[in-house]
Amino acid sequence: MSKYENEINKRRTFAIISHPDAGKTTLTEKFLLYGGAIALAGSVKGKKSDRHAVSDWMEIEKQRGISVTSSVMQFNYKDCCINILDTPGHQDFSEDTYRTLMAADSAVMVIDAAKGVENQTRKLFKVCVMRHIPIFTFINKMDREAKNPFDLLDQIENELGIKTFPVNWPIGCGREFKGVYDRMKRHIVSFKANGGHHAVEASEVDLSDEKLDELIGSENRQNLFDDIELLDGASYEFDIDAVNRGELSPVFFGSALTNFGVEPFLEDFIKMTTPPLPRMSSEGEISPYDDDFSAFVFKIQANMNKAHRDRLTFMRICSGRFDRDMEVYHVQGDKKLRLSQPQQIMAQEREIINEAYAGDIIGVFDPGIFSIGDTVCAPGRKIAYEGIPTFAPEHFARIRQKDTLKRKQFVKGTTQIAQEGAIQIFHEPFSGMEEVIVGVVGVLQFEVLEYRLKNEYNVDIIREGLPYQYIRWIENKDIDVKSLNLSSDTKIVQDFKDNYLLIFTSEWNIRWALEKNEGLILSEFNRD
Ligand code: G4P
Repeated sequence: MSKYENEINKRRTFAIISHPDAGKTTLTEKFLLYGGAIALAGSVKGKKSDRHAVSDWMEIEKQRGISVTSSVMQFNYKDCCINILDTPGHQDFSEDTYRTLMAADSAVMVIDAAKGVENQTRKLFKVCVMRHIPIFTFINKMDREAKNPFDLLDQIENELGIKTFPVNWPIGCGREFKGVYDRMKRHIVSFKANGGHHAVEASEVDLSDEKLDELIGSENRQNLFDDIELLDGASYEFDIDAVNRGELSPVFFGSALTNFGVEPFLEDFIKMTTPPLPRMSSEGEISPYDDDFSAFVFKIQANMNKAHRDRLTFMRICSGRFDRDMEVYHVQGDKKLRLSQPQQIMAQEREIINEAYAGDIIGVFDPGIFSIGDTVCAPGRKIAYEGIPTFAPEHFARIRQKDTLKRKQFVKGTTQIAQEGAIQIFHEPFSGMEEVIVGVVGVLQFEVLEYRLKNEYNVDIIREGLPYQYIRWIENKDIDVKSLNLSSDTKIVQDFKDNYLLIFTSEWNIRWALEKNEGLILSEFNRD
């Protein structure tokens, strides 16, 4: 076993996902409160426009009140060292969510009890299910009028295709929300409201306790007893293997705002979720307990601090221990280097760190050498972690700078934003045009691009929407693309590695291209 076994066993690394406004930021803050990292909760409260939550970095997020980019932070809870990976709360950024999930060992899905699974975020949750990692569900806002808890579970099961196991059960809702019933320990945990700024006072009471009526009211008691009978008869058995395979989601009820149910969730979550898991590499599975350091890049973000024009690259450590002064080997760049200013967000502050272990996420200053999916490891080894898939863009636009003198900034801005993985850029060969074609997975990314080019690179752009919806890479390396027989609304483009691609307005056109060009091989994914 590893010399770092104790440190690694303490680690829990999870992503938190929700639709906007379900309460992800509030819940994260309450985790910090219960971990003792902050003394008073409530800094997230206030009007959306002037709110500055700890994980909201970008101006556009603050303005629109949506979480566009994801951030990472670490805090301690009891003996555990927890890394939370925040994710964008909008389906248009589901690719970013997927990349973040690649760096996590489990996910916590926050659902608004009054709304259930919302239309616009089904895609986001499906992305989570696609990753096959354990998914824990926190049904939030039970202090408001909520949907029937049985209906909520049905909805999660039917719409997301995952079974559920309620670990606890709400007692009442709205003003009558009194606490939760713990189905494993078979007792109730009732809470006393205190405004939510401090940890809430909880009392654990047995079902047969005579104080029960006094604590939760006789009507709530009767309803609870009926629900327990139904649940015990109808719900799935708890099966930790099914949880680990991402097939069964443990469900918790609570209210992040009032702190009801936050601590019971944390307690069970750290027991049920795993310490860092092994990862697949070119040399097979690498155990986190392998003494040699290794990590992969899952996220790059430029200009987090506008004054410094910095570019931070985030890596998930997969094995061993990272030491601030250590030399590492960047596999894709084939270079030894020292990682510059390795840092973590500890609760609310960015801090330079001296050491980190498997399971941790570190951010490093990056002069532009890393790409998403890259591996760094101890010198002397040469492993490459499994790549992170790119989602095929579904929306396309042609963009150019308004002011021709700003060409340099325009190229720099679009290239850097594309390197972060937020957009994909293409150009039109044979046309002699300097315009750029941008492909995105969700249309909101166009707005983010426009905003960032203006604010970070001082470039105004003109954007013209294009009718294309499908993209295919041309696999044949020796083909003369100019001689292809294509329908008039199919376009040939090139990516930044000069690979040729075709963009189409319909699936019919894809079939047409394949039928008219014998031997043409098209692929949905970029294999480079
Ligand atoms: P998000 O990160 O998922 O987008 O959600 P966030 O935590 O920002 O919460 C969105 C809104 O929901 C906030 O209200 C927040 O106070 C509220 N909220 C979060 N958890 C709970 C809960 O358990 N119960 C209730 N009743 N509300 C909750 P807001 O309108 O943005 O601000 P404010 O009016 O509270 O100041």
